[in-house]
Amino acid sequence: MYNDKVREVFANPKNVGFIEDADGVGKVGNPTCGDIMEISLKIKDNVIVDAKFRTFGCAAAIATSSTATEMVKGMTVDQALKLTNSQVVEELEGLPPQKIHCSVLAEEAIKEAINDYKSKQK
Ligand code: FES
Repeated sequence: MYNDKVREVFANPKNVGFIEDADGVGKVGNPTCGDIMEISLKIKDNVIVDAKFRTFGCAAAIATSSTATEMVKGMTVDQALKLTNSQVVEELEGLPPQKIHCSVLAEEAIKEAINDYKSKQK
């Protein structure tokens, strides 16, 4: 069902774990399947310097978590807020249509983590 790229990322995911002194944490659930994704970010001068994830979910959720955390490293928080699930799916060279909803978790978890960071700045 999955292409080679997705299978490779799922087999060797990057950024697994939790940043203990994270500046922003986002945790979201997928109402369709009940899966959960948590992303923690380390942010310096508005730039994401580290990103990690913990995902209880399917192969597509894990592959998109790994890819999305790789993509946001080095981005400013405002750039990362604009990251869409479609860009993550494109980076993975596609997902089966019934698995697109899984990629939405990564986009939402990053947005939540950045909003958490922004709320702590105030
Ligand atoms: Fe739940 Fe993919 S089936 S995130």
